[in-house]
Amino acid sequence: MKEKRSQFGTKLGVIMVTAGSAVGLGNIWRFPYEVGANGGGAFVLLYLIFVFFVGLPVICGEFILGKRSRSGIRGAFEKLHKSRFWGSVGYISILAAVLIMGFYSVVASWTMEYIVQSVEGFSGLSSPEDFHNRFELLTATPVRPVVWTALFLILNYLILIRGVEKGIEKVSNLMMPLLFILLIAFGINSLLLPGAGEGLRFLFHPDFSKLTGEVVLRALGQAFFSLSLGMGCLVTYSSYFKPETPLMRTGISIAVLDTFVAVMAGVMIFPAVFTYGQEPAAGPRLVFEVLPMVFSNMPSGSIWSLVFFVLLFLAALTSIISVSEIIIAYLMDDFGMSRFKACTVHFVISLVFGVVCALSFSSLSDFKIFGFNVFDLFDYVSSNILMPLGGMLLSIFVGWVIKRSIVKEELLAGTSHSGVYRVLATVMAFCLRYVAPVAIAIVMLNCLKGI
Ligand code: PHE
Repeated sequence: MKEKRSQFGTKLGVIMVTAGSAVGLGNIWRFPYEVGANGGGAFVLLYLIFVFFVGLPVICGEFILGKRSRSGIRGAFEKLHKSRFWGSVGYISILAAVLIMGFYSVVASWTMEYIVQSVEGFSGLSSPEDFHNRFELLTATPVRPVVWTALFLILNYLILIRGVEKGIEKVSNLMMPLLFILLIAFGINSLLLPGAGEGLRFLFHPDFSKLTGEVVLRALGQAFFSLSLGMGCLVTYSSYFKPETPLMRTGISIAVLDTFVAVMAGVMIFPAVFTYGQEPAAGPRLVFEVLPMVFSNMPSGSIWSLVFFVLLFLAALTSIISVSEIIIAYLMDDFGMSRFKACTVHFVISLVFGVVCALSFSSLSDFKIFGFNVFDLFDYVSSNILMPLGGMLLSIFVGWVIKRSIVKEELLAGTSHSGVYRVLATVMAFCLRYVAPVAIAIVMLNCLKGI
């Protein structure tokens, strides 16, 4: 028998939970490493443009789809328009979700490792090489990362079986405000470092000679990843919304909060990168080598480090919960599984993918596909290919297939219907119809041309 569909409690809860999905390792781990690897300011500028002109409309599109269909991503299209093609589009999202589960749980497991490291202290480490070696020590052996990844997934499983409103809403409500305060404090701390000027220039001064088709695609991919877009995560969450939940306001809050966290993470990281002579293009390990160095140079550093990694871990948890929810809703809706059974099946699948990703820094490090190890491949394919593709199809669906009157009605639901909202709804509908699909198609084709 099908269980009753859950609903979120309060309005603030809705924002906290959806923002809890958006704000995560994507902002604090992935954003700085992508900025560093793709030349700095120009990437950031493009990223911001994509967030507001493509991301925000797609957020609204996902909300409309989920709220209207009251279904997870796989069934959502089909419920609003019967066709074989649209019925199968959701599989792109499910594939993306499974890949993300794999590498995301590994990065989350690093945060757990660094919680323990903070307690032990980083004493005796001073040069960038020391911090690099510490990271290698923790990731380049098979057992530790696998155990941490498994632990993380077990925790995720335990929260998930308790259900949406009890588990997710509580964790998010507590974690988000604390994370904001801490980021602001650390951002200010970094601005006082001698390398602050150079760091800020790297982050905000656009050098357009660094732009290539690949960089543009990566900026788009980062916007999608960070906003949890193009894979039905927000579709799934909005299927738990109440009828009066205001979609545009929630969407704008998420885009602003998420961007703020990413930019603050950049402000915190890059001054330190230049102050301590680290390499901005270090890739996925960047943050895990820079941050401990920042903390070890602060008074009472190990306490700050502990608090920070605990919050980062919680941010990762609220995001991974939302990725899991896509797969669980699919298993429940399409296979009629109970929540418990769906969570268990999902746990086993993620464990397999997580372990393979964890091993890609040790036992499987020589196993490469297109020059990527498994971890990087999952990261690249999900963010830069599957999510934008999912987002493009979704915006075509909401922009062209669903009746315009429905789109407008949903965009205006829960608002005062005043002039400002009407104009906003028109702009949003226009972006969904034209700007988002065309921009995504151009960026993806342009990059294909370069291959
Ligand atoms: N947006 C999340 C983050 O920034 C990651 C995520 C991607 C969550 C896709 C859900 C869906 O960490």
